[in-house]
Amino acid sequence: MREGILSVIGGTPLVRLTRLLPKIDFRLFAKLESLNPGGSTKDRPALSIIRHGIETGYITPQSVVIESSSGNMGLGLAQACCYYGLRFICVVDPKATQMNIELLRAYGAEVDIVAEPDAETGEYLKARINRVKFLISTIKHSFWPNQYANVYNSIAHHGTMDEIVRTLEGRVDYLFCATSTCGTLRGCAEYLRAHSLRTKIFAVDALGSVIFGGPSAKRLIPGHGASIRPQLYEPDLAQCIRVSDLECVVGCRRLVRQEAILVGGSSGGVVMAVEQIMEAINPDANCVLIFPDRGERYLDTIYSDAWVEKHFGDISHMWLSHEESRQCAPATC
Ligand SMILES: Cc1ncc(COP(=O)(O)O)c(C=O)c1O
Repeated sequence: MREGILSVIGGTPLVRLTRLLPKIDFRLFAKLESLNPGGSTKDRPALSIIRHGIETGYITPQSVVIESSSGNMGLGLAQACCYYGLRFICVVDPKATQMNIELLRAYGAEVDIVAEPDAETGEYLKARINRVKFLISTIKHSFWPNQYANVYNSIAHHGTMDEIVRTLEGRVDYLFCATSTCGTLRGCAEYLRAHSLRTKIFAVDALGSVIFGGPSAKRLIPGHGASIRPQLYEPDLAQCIRVSDLECVVGCRRLVRQEAILVGGSSGGVVMAVEQIMEAINPDANCVLIFPDRGERYLDTIYSDAWVEKHFGDISHMWLSHEESRQCAPATC
């Protein structure tokens, strides 16, 4: 018996995927972070940051937690703050989905929407962070988790990696990890380094994200990628593989069709990152993919045929498996 909802954060299952790429000669495993109670991997850093704040006295019952997030971190914090009876203001932008706004409110969070992108950069992220800084300076007893810089974000993922390593009895040859704040990537890399494990890590980033360099560009799929380089970023943590919005959609659709696993866009990107480099993966290797969140929050986008057609045209032939799509010309499928 566990006590309280926060006690069931972590301990997510690792499942073997046998259908997605049936002809490979290495083993593929998925860490289903969607099965955290708040629906994503962000339950871990949210709890880690809030708990550390409480234990060190930075957070008291009078504290007002203020964070910028249009997605999973906001929901993770909303859940933790709700449990601890803390006031939480979540700063979002107009791109936040109605469902996420309603979920935040259902947990009792206050939703503060910035209407305009930052005048200088044209980015909403910068505008949200400026708004957080303003609220912090004007609201008494405020506490900013600052997920892009807070080491308790990455420390939370020592646990993620520990679970994976223990389940596979120390043999993790490859790790594929979607990236935004770099919390997951850095936490897993720190754990592997501390335990002298030689796992090869691939950071899966969005095309148009600036985390690993390159120009910023508009992106459709939320979750992974960032328009700023997070303070948690460190060079040499991993090799970067970039995936497009289209690849995220295709990866998600293939995954649900082949494995009956419904996940968010960044997980689809992780699937396609493996496909990009699968020829280079050693036979007999254990290859782990972290799936950060669940698919229900993407029903209006990734899993909507109308939305997909509007943005990418008719690409339904791409849902076929890697092997099938190689044999099947678009016009005939
Ligand atoms: C769906 C999704 N994928 C990937 C990530 C990236 O994780 P991290 O912030 O630990 O780099 C996030 C972070 O919010 C996310 O919500």
